[in-house]
Amino acid sequence: NIPTRVKLIDVGPRDGLQNEKQPVPAAVKIELVHRLQAAGLKEIEVTSYVSPKWVPQMADNHEVMAGMTRQPGVRYSVLTPNMKGFEAALLDQPDEVVVFGAASEAFSQKNINCSIAESIERFAPVVQAALAAGIAVRGAMSCTVGCPYEGEVAPERVTMLARLMKGIGVQRVDVADTIGVGTPLKVQRAIEATLPHFDIDHICGHFHDTYGQALSNTYAALQMGVWNFQSSVAGLGGCPYAKGATGNVSTEDVVYLLQGLDIDTGIDLDALVDAGAFISSALGRKPNSRVATALLNK
Ligand code: HMG
Ligand code: MG
Repeated sequence: NIPTRVKLIDVGPRDGLQNEKQPVPAAVKIELVHRLQAAGLKEIEVTSYVSPKWVPQMADNHEVMAGMTRQPGVRYSVLTPNMKGFEAALLDQPDEVVVFGAASEAFSQKNINCSIAESIERFAPVVQAALAAGIAVRGAMSCTVGCPYEGEVAPERVTMLARLMKGIGVQRVDVADTIGVGTPLKVQRAIEATLPHFDIDHICGHFHDTYGQALSNTYAALQMGVWNFQSSVAGLGGCPYAKGATGNVSTEDVVYLLQGLDIDTGIDLDALVDAGAFISSALGRKPNSRVATALLNK
C-alpha cells in the first residue's frame, strides 16, 4: 500500500546551503530556487530567519525572498525560531514558516540555545501569529533517531516532542534523522512514535545519508504510507550543530527511486540534475548524488 503520488520539498537552498563556509551570493540562491521550480518542485525551503552570528550564510534571507520570482502553485517555506525571526519573515510573505525543535535536549541547546520546553514556549506565539496571518506552520523535529551529543534517541522522546508541537498548533511535522544514523526499523519507529499526534498525511520524512541508509529509510517510510519527503538537490548540506553529518539525501536519488516505483512526483529529473549541477559548480564541487553522477557521465 505504498502511495502513488509523492510530494518532495527541496530544502537545498536552506538546509543545504546554511553550512557552507564560502559565501554564496544571493543571486546564486535565487537562481537555484528558479531552477528547482522550473524542474517541477512544488515546495521549496528557501531560507531561515535566525541569528546571522549563528548562521552567517542565511543573513541574506530578505534579499533572496524579495529577489525571487514566485511561481503560482509553489509553496515557499522559511525557518523562524522565535518572534524576532517571524516578524522579519512576515515582511517577506512566506507561504509556510517552520519552527524547529529537537527530540534531544543537548541538540536543542546547541542548535537554538534553549531547552525543549523553552523552545516550545518560544514557538507558541510564532505559531499563533502565523496561523492568524494565514501562513501555514510546519514543525521540524530534529534528532528523532540519533543525536550527535546524546547518541540514540528513544521513540518516547519523539512522541513527547510531537505532542508538544501539536499542543501549540503546528499543522504538520518533519521526522528528521538529522545525523543520518537511522536504519529502516529505527526510522519506522520514529514515525510510529509521531502517529499518536499527527496522521500520516501530516508527516514528512527528512533523511540524511551519512551512513548511506537514506534511500532505504525513504522506502521504509513509503511502506508506512508517508508521501511527503524532504531532500536536497545535489545532496547539499550538513547541519552546523551536527558535526560530521553529511547532507540530506539528494533529491535526484529520491526522484529516481520514486520513478522506478511508478510513483508520480511531477519532477523532471533531467532539469533537476541540471539544477544540481548548477549549484555544485557554483560551489566548486561535484553533485553529491549517485543518480546525478550517473546521468551527467552518461
Ligand atoms: P539566543 O542567543 O539564545 O537568542 O539565540 P537571544 O534572544 O538571546 O538573542 C541574542 C541575539 O540574537 C540578539 O542580538 C538578538 O537580536 C539576535 P544582539 O542583541 O546580540 O545583537 N536574534 C536574532 N537575530 C536574527 N534573527 C532572529 C534572532 N533571534 C535573536 N530570529 C537563536 C537563539 C535561535 C536566535 C540562535 O540560537 C540561532 O539563530 N540559532 C541558529 C539555529 C539554526 O539556524 N540552526 C540550523 C537550522 S536547524 C537544522 O538544520 C536541522 C533541521 O534542518 C532538521 C534536519 O536537518 O534534520 C531543521
Ligand atoms: Mg536536514
